[in-house]
Amino acid sequence: MSPPLPRIPRHLAIIMDGNGRWAERRRRPRMIGHRAGARAVNLCIDFCLDRGVQVLTLFAFSSENWGRPAEEVSALMKLFMGALEREVDELHRRGVRVRFIGQREKFQPAIVQRMHAAEALTAGNARLTLVIAASYGGRQDLAQAARALAEEVAAGRLQPADIDEARLAAQVALADLPPPDLFIRTGGDHRISNFLLWQLAYTELWFTETLWPDLDATVLQAALDDFAVRERRFGLTAAQVATQGTCP
Ligand code: IPE
Ligand code: IPE
Ligand code: MG
Repeated sequence: MSPPLPRIPRHLAIIMDGNGRWAERRRRPRMIGHRAGARAVNLCIDFCLDRGVQVLTLFAFSSENWGRPAEEVSALMKLFMGALEREVDELHRRGVRVRFIGQREKFQPAIVQRMHAAEALTAGNARLTLVIAASYGGRQDLAQAARALAEEVAAGRLQPADIDEARLAAQVALADLPPPDLFIRTGGDHRISNFLLWQLAYTELWFTETLWPDLDATVLQAALDDFAVRERRFGLTAAQVATQGTCP
């Protein structure tokens, strides 16, 4: 009998943190760290393609990051636009389906147009779904889900008593994808920073001191190795999990 296949997360969600500190430690402008961080994104995508991860969600820019100094925000927008121009064709060639979550109306029209074009071009791909969270906030996500349900009620299509977990889950971002199995945050901080608040309910959390631009396959493999030996109980007992297995 062949040994069991290693348990690979179907959906990996990452807070790519530490770009600014990476640059500051080198006495360079923070933007240099963001550029180095963009290289780590490619490494991470390669890793997921190689290991057979189905969905990779990357936190690229939070709702709160708009509050950073104007020059950092505009440099990040240029970097984002450049990445959209440069990388999408190659991602398409490699079978990656690209999607964006977050308040895209906050971006300049040229960026919004590129986002739509990337999604349209890659919509039929199935090897890896790459979700970029840009101008995303977990609280905003929940607020818009509540608003959408309230509109259904106001239109007479839904009763308040019918609002349950499944209806709310259908309105938040990533509703059509499996929830994240593994969450990674680089950069040494142990917090969620308004990432996927609803979707991370039973996700395994993994943190590393490694700054995002220093990411390599060894770090990602360490996270996967740790994930492979964790027991996910989803509120049940270990004995129940052993007999019936779990995967909601
Ligand atoms: C993450 O790196 C990238 C973005 C938030 C855009 P940071 O820019 O937050 O880097 P640190 O945390 O200041 O080192
Ligand atoms: C979270 O990192 C957002 C992204 C990585 C895009 P932050 O650097 O914004 O988070 P805080 O401010 O340290 O909580
Ligand atoms: Mg940070």
